[in-house]
Amino acid sequence: MCGIIGYIGTKNATPILFNGLKRLEYRGYDSAGIVTLDKEFHMKKDVGKVDEINTRLNFSDLPGTLGIAHTRWATHGGVTKENAHPHTDCEGKIAVVHNGIIENYQELKKNLVSNGHKFKSQTDTEVIPHLIEEIMKRGKNFHDSTLSALRSLEGSYAILALHKNERKIVAARKGSPLVIGVADGSYFAASDIPAFLEHTKNVVYMHDSDVALLTDTGMKVFSLLEGGDVNRKVDTVDWDIRQAEKGEFNHFMLKEISEQVETVQKAVQQTKEVVDGVVHSIRNAHGIFLIASGTSYHACLAASYILSKLNKMHVNVVLASEFPHYEHFLTPKTLVVAVSQSGETADVLEAVKYAKARGCKILSIVNVVGSSLTRTSDSFLNLNAGPEICVLATKSYTSQLALFTLLAYALSGKLEEGKKRLNYLWNVIYHLTSATVKEKIKELAEKLKNKEHIFLIGRGLEYTTALEAALKIKEVSYIHAEAFAGGELKHGPIALVEDGTPCIVFVSEETEKEILSNANEIKSRGGYIIGVSPTNNEVFDFWLKVPEANNENPIVQIIPIQILAYQLAVLRGLDPDHPRNLAKSVTVK
Ligand code: G6P
Repeated sequence: MCGIIGYIGTKNATPILFNGLKRLEYRGYDSAGIVTLDKEFHMKKDVGKVDEINTRLNFSDLPGTLGIAHTRWATHGGVTKENAHPHTDCEGKIAVVHNGIIENYQELKKNLVSNGHKFKSQTDTEVIPHLIEEIMKRGKNFHDSTLSALRSLEGSYAILALHKNERKIVAARKGSPLVIGVADGSYFAASDIPAFLEHTKNVVYMHDSDVALLTDTGMKVFSLLEGGDVNRKVDTVDWDIRQAEKGEFNHFMLKEISEQVETVQKAVQQTKEVVDGVVHSIRNAHGIFLIASGTSYHACLAASYILSKLNKMHVNVVLASEFPHYEHFLTPKTLVVAVSQSGETADVLEAVKYAKARGCKILSIVNVVGSSLTRTSDSFLNLNAGPEICVLATKSYTSQLALFTLLAYALSGKLEEGKKRLNYLWNVIYHLTSATVKEKIKELAEKLKNKEHIFLIGRGLEYTTALEAALKIKEVSYIHAEAFAGGELKHGPIALVEDGTPCIVFVSEETEKEILSNANEIKSRGGYIIGVSPTNNEVFDFWLKVPEANNENPIVQIIPIQILAYQLAVLRGLDPDHPRNLAKSVTVK
């Protein structure tokens, strides 16, 4: 994953790079580094989060109006200062930051070592500066050497490279995200837009295999695929920098949970033409696969229940990483719906590649327009949720659910009714994210904060909510949380229930009778029952009231648990925006 940013212009580079890194920290935060260039390189890097490193090393005295920086999520090589980026060649003339994985680095490294190159880290990235150095020895200039080096890399990369004697940044991407920001007299290159949004809203989306040369006087893009210079247009994003800042909230997680009052509405602001187009492709498909990873996968699972209920339609829901094993079922008439907040998840992109190779049509549902996924899809729907910064997906999940629900209504010819029902939810979400409800949830978090296990059960649509709720709790509080379908309890999981084991039970009108009887089975074995339900029940030890919303239950029922997960993390002294070992955009397989 990792986040990278570069700047060339007239301003002091370090504050720009430093703030950019902080906005990119959701992509990785085990170590970071900055290199700037005036007459020579000035570099500082270390392990830890950007602020921690700054306290120790003080980045602010790095001079120059040109530089590149990196925040790391380790893949190759441990979390050490040596493995932190930027990486340099033997003579310290070339500096590189990289996001992605160089799959053939061992082979390249072996050759470089046999040519006398000395490596200082265990990373795959370090082969890049050495490779450029090696090619330059043969008389090629820095830019051409970088192009040649890129041609020999297998795997994925977004890289920024500097040469000590040249005032330019070479920025290249293949499989990992990279966008260029264009402002008066300056250029930015970063893993995503919020990293430079405070400076410019004008962006150029790099295509796969594009190499941009950024200088004081302009930008030139060369395509390794097309083998020549190409024109990439400048787009203007309508994101607001405030969307990428915490404002009055302590954490992005809580801010983004609260934003759901509006984001669910924004998700369903789709024009009739766009929805009709999607409905048409769904109706004409022979076989539909919904593919995604993590939270987006849970939204797909919920969608499969909704489509079955509202449209009597069967769809296959497959984890993106497992999808290649379904290739035998794919035909040119298959519709693949790829769902991804970031549009950059490597597993999803790989799955789409498989599907495209078999001629399938690709419809994607994304939150980042201009992402790799939107570019490889035949058509896409925009979630419109604004930047999601916290590693945990919250608002993008309810937006995905809202959009899928809208499509289900549209498929039964009830687009307007669906829009009305989904728009009305703002009211419910407003209440569920109010201070009173948050206080009540905090009370529950106090009771659960020292538990080792939390179980969650639901049936039908509520089973998918239980799965997503368990993911939220475990990824941010590190408490083991596991979801079961209510009916499966008796087939094994009930053996885990002990005196005081907490179990969160998701109740809907449709499933009430059966799920409450499952709750009773747990309670009679000593379980502590937390009901997420429209009405109270004697089996509940703790009741979280949510209104009955039928097909929209997944949207409303997840919200109290997002807040619970947040409170658990805070009470356990953890940073909800930066859970250990996780990154928001997983751009490696
Ligand atoms: C990572 C994140 C998850 C996210 C998943 C899929 O694992 O930590 O929160 O759900 O990627 O991300 P996507 O951007 O494809 O929805």
